[in-house]
Amino acid sequence: MMLVLITETSEEGSRKAGSLVAQTIMQTPALRLGLAAGNTPIGLYRNLVDLHRTTHLDFSRVRLFSLDEFIGLRSDSPNHYRVFYHQHLIDHLNIEPAHLHLLSGPAEQGIASSCVSYERLIQNQGGIDLQILGIGRNGHLGFNEPGSSLNSRTRRILLSASTKQNLGRVFYGEPVPEWAVTMGLGTIREARTLLLLAFGAHKAEVVAKAVEGPLSAFTPASSIQLHPSVVLVLDREAAGSLTNQEYYRQQSSQVMKGDQWFLEL
Ligand code: F6R
Repeated sequence: MMLVLITETSEEGSRKAGSLVAQTIMQTPALRLGLAAGNTPIGLYRNLVDLHRTTHLDFSRVRLFSLDEFIGLRSDSPNHYRVFYHQHLIDHLNIEPAHLHLLSGPAEQGIASSCVSYERLIQNQGGIDLQILGIGRNGHLGFNEPGSSLNSRTRRILLSASTKQNLGRVFYGEPVPEWAVTMGLGTIREARTLLLLAFGAHKAEVVAKAVEGPLSAFTPASSIQLHPSVVLVLDREAAGSLTNQEYYRQQSSQVMKGDQWFLEL
């Protein structure tokens, strides 16, 4: 199933994505949830925090995994994705510290072995049930830049010039690192369900390539086409270049009533 939900606004998309994650946690209290950083999922995380406050949505058994992290930032840098996850999500929820599995940007010598350990950790924990994803303007998924093997695993990756330029706008003046560590496309595809969010007109072209274009390592996000269970939540602008919108709207109206999802993940 590749389900494409098109919402009027990013706020509505964040709310509906939030209710999908919340419903899944209620069905599976020990959910293994993969997190993405960046601007796109902030609204979703805010919704989860609100649901925790208002409805006591319980995160005590939820286990969290992160998708990627920068290598080589100052240890106290605010730009670590680890900091982002604490700020936007973890610090506001009842997450057990032992359930936090956030990638660190390891020192040069330790990278290969820490990537292998991370893969092993995910496997030992039983795999990721639901992986939240954004999409880069160049089609990257995690930090799997164009040209990444569709079967890649967690590894060190050189950031592209365009990714560095986009990140530079939100990096508080600190130079953007050359390298990051990311789950591979093969790793991401092993998650049982992918929840990919994209909002705004600047994502329209790449969303169309990922969803309706040919499968290609040059658009790493097109690898979602190989996955049996994908939910995309797009606002009207990000969905703007899709040709099959009519069908997506019909399809999603079958599984949603208001903010309630009728979907077995
Ligand atoms: C973040 C990540 C990236 C972002 C992508 C979109 O953990 O892996 O792939 O999801 O760069 O970023 P935003 O949401 O800032 O447009």
